[in-house]
Amino acid sequence: MKFSYPGIIERYWDYLPVSDKTPIISLNEGSTPLIKSVYLSVKYGCELYFKFEGLNPTGSFKDRGMTLAISKAKEAGAKAVMCASTGNTSASAAAYARRGRMRCIVVIPDGKIALGKLAQAMMHGAEVLAIAGNFDDALDVVKYITSNYEIVLVNSINPFRIEGQKTGAFEICDWLGDAPDFLFIPVGNAGNITSYWKGFKEYKEKNISEALPKMMGWQAEGSAPIVRGRVIENPETIATAIRIGNPARWKEAEAAAKDSGGKIDMVSDEKIIQAYKIRALNEGIFCEPASAASVAGLIKEADENPEMLKGKQIVCILTGHGLKDPDIAIANSPEIISVKKDYDQIKKALNL
Ligand code: F0G
Repeated sequence: MKFSYPGIIERYWDYLPVSDKTPIISLNEGSTPLIKSVYLSVKYGCELYFKFEGLNPTGSFKDRGMTLAISKAKEAGAKAVMCASTGNTSASAAAYARRGRMRCIVVIPDGKIALGKLAQAMMHGAEVLAIAGNFDDALDVVKYITSNYEIVLVNSINPFRIEGQKTGAFEICDWLGDAPDFLFIPVGNAGNITSYWKGFKEYKEKNISEALPKMMGWQAEGSAPIVRGRVIENPETIATAIRIGNPARWKEAEAAAKDSGGKIDMVSDEKIIQAYKIRALNEGIFCEPASAASVAGLIKEADENPEMLKGKQIVCILTGHGLKDPDIAIANSPEIISVKKDYDQIKKALNL
């Protein structure tokens, strides 16, 4: 008897580089909902859906790629895996590595990782190294160690990560019956936009879908190397998940935007926070700030170019759950009201 949907490896077995020798290390990831927008779709006259990847087992889209990367590492006999991370990759790697009985080492930028993500990596028993530097420095360290020791790199340079993450595109096509007109997605290390584009193309090549979406990738203004066309030495943004100055999949992301007729653009932190609140307050969906970059991008396009999106079918990828970063949520909300159990005081506080 099946108690829930199986994970992405079993669901998309024929589309993935797996065989009967592959041990499936899964937490039943994927099958995330495509939630219809009730506010922005009405405001901008489009058919908009949010793909809520924050509902994956460790709270982000990383689980799709990690189930495959860890399963393949196990198949190859690995005893240890390692990644650099702005937080979500480390949380996912730690959970799946532990399930696969492997050692997990993560390197994070000191002080720049959201609390929830750190708690996950620690709770799943990862060995956490906090480096004085940014994500790009952390990735250099991981590349060095994994090329000199028997430790498997599980960042999205690892091709199995891309293969797993492309299943997000399959799910969208399976649900909608075809690819949407536009896909809005945040861009950090650029693995996810690369994966989605690969997934959409594969479904079209196999005649499962007919259309291809325009890929609209969004970076934060202070961390927008692709948009600015140069490495950013000291990337900054409130959306720490995408605080990356030299994306590993830079060229692939550019190709996805160009070949699809889309683009890679940027939004300010102020607009990211605005979108973060709009989505929570008007759509009822709580995602971390990096996931708001794609929504901020959508709002920017719709305001600047209303005709482009009108009547179109659009999917916005919400990459990580809001609970990952409680500090930002609390800092951007009204203060709580402390009261005694005194009904006059309570009525006054509530304007009743
Ligand atoms: N959104 C979230 C919530 C992320 O954690 C990331 C990347 C992205 C978007 C960007 O995706 O890198 O594939 O372009 N987080 C990585 C990490 C870098 O270490 O967790 P990308």
